[in-house]
Amino acid sequence: MGTTVFVLNGPNLNLLGQREPEIYGSDTLADVEQMCRRAAPAQVEIVFRQSNHEGVLVDWIQEAREVAAAIVINPAAYTHTSVAILDALSAFDGPVVEVHISDVHKREAFRHHSYVSQRADHVIVGQGVAGYVQGLDWALERLG
Ligand code: DQA
Repeated sequence: MGTTVFVLNGPNLNLLGQREPEIYGSDTLADVEQMCRRAAPAQVEIVFRQSNHEGVLVDWIQEAREVAAAIVINPAAYTHTSVAILDALSAFDGPVVEVHISDVHKREAFRHHSYVSQRADHVIVGQGVAGYVQGLDWALERLG
């Protein structure tokens, strides 16, 4: 049977490639999706989504409980604010990888704290969009 991995993206990541390219680079979210699909073995289904809405992300994390073996998530700004996303991830049993394109620890102080890191099994920061593929590989390795 195949394995499903949810790759979830939070607010403003729909603007990747246009938004602050000096921080986030020039690849678009569609490019990132393609990278993840290419990196995944044939028997792995990637469900790749983005929302600007916290509750939508919570709904998708709850959906993942039913169908996904792992979650790779860039919660974007909700990383630093959302107990709701932390709680939803805490109700998910499989591996959770938190990805940030930029090195949040070298940026403003308000980006240094992550609610999501309390649940994440692995955190990748500052690797650019390559961090998504690294996160996916890590999750697949963990699943065995
Ligand atoms: C981000 C870092 C967050 O602080 C920021 O709000 C984002 C993107 C990153 O990928 O580096 O939107 O998660």
